[in-house]
Amino acid sequence: MLVDYRTSDDAGVYRWDDSSALVQTVDFFTPIVDDPFAYGQIAAANSLSDVYAMGGVPLTALAVAGFPVDELEPGVIQAVFEGGLSKLREAGVALLGGHTVKDAEIKFGYSVTGRIDPDRVLSNAGLQAGDALLLTKPLGTGIVATAIKKGRAPEGVAAKAIESMATLNRAPADALRDLPAGAVHACTDITGFGLVGHACEMAAASAVGVRIDSARVPLLEGATALVSRNQTAGGDSNARHFGERTEIVGEVSADLVALLHDPQTSGGLLVAVAPAARERAAQALAEAGVDGVQIGEAVPVQDASALVRIT
Ligand code: CO
Ligand code: CO
Repeated sequence: MLVDYRTSDDAGVYRWDDSSALVQTVDFFTPIVDDPFAYGQIAAANSLSDVYAMGGVPLTALAVAGFPVDELEPGVIQAVFEGGLSKLREAGVALLGGHTVKDAEIKFGYSVTGRIDPDRVLSNAGLQAGDALLLTKPLGTGIVATAIKKGRAPEGVAAKAIESMATLNRAPADALRDLPAGAVHACTDITGFGLVGHACEMAAASAVGVRIDSARVPLLEGATALVSRNQTAGGDSNARHFGERTEIVGEVSADLVALLHDPQTSGGLLVAVAPAARERAAQALAEAGVDGVQIGEAVPVQDASALVRIT
């Protein structure tokens, strides 16, 4: 066993011989959008993401599902599965099977298995002071999804958020895997704990601090305008929990802080790159068609109550 549940990592890693290891994860959730096909796509992209975040290549998937079978219109369940399958195919992942139960609330996702080079596992614990932190997707899916549910999201804003959530993290993961060993020190995907929470976990696991340059953090189009009326319970609890280990320096608007804590579904990768490899990593991401925005850096830890400094 190389990585298990104890380090709050994205997925577990099990080595079965010197050069080969398995990376495994499971993830499922309730619908975040109305369209069943898009929901299936997002669930698949989200489940695959934890394998990419570890530096692995996903190979196979098993569906995990719960449906109120008697209450759904015909075709809904099939559309969810088809949306998921379209993303698995795009990722080159084989669907082997799965298990569905009758449930009062819809739930859908996958258990994903991949292969990973045991010498190049990107855990949360590899961050080093001086590393550049790159983020590959804009924030705001939690707030926009809440606005969609309440009918407050402009169509274009909703479409951009859905497109972002359905986008695989494959392109950045492939680009980073092609870099020389040691270029990338750590990686995680941004999901329920939001940018600050996941940065905080990485910092704590690595015993370094993180500085986030809030003005550079990419945000989903239209998200800022939706913050005040569409905050989520998850965002509030993230702000309470991780706020205790976060220091805000200077003027950062409350709306922006809320977005930094916004729980993401199928968010981007947060990648820690060695300073000497920063240019090369940024170039590799750009060539893969990915906006890898540098949103901060790792710094020596000064005090445990300020693991994350937002400037
Ligand atoms: Co994750
Ligand atoms: Co997960």
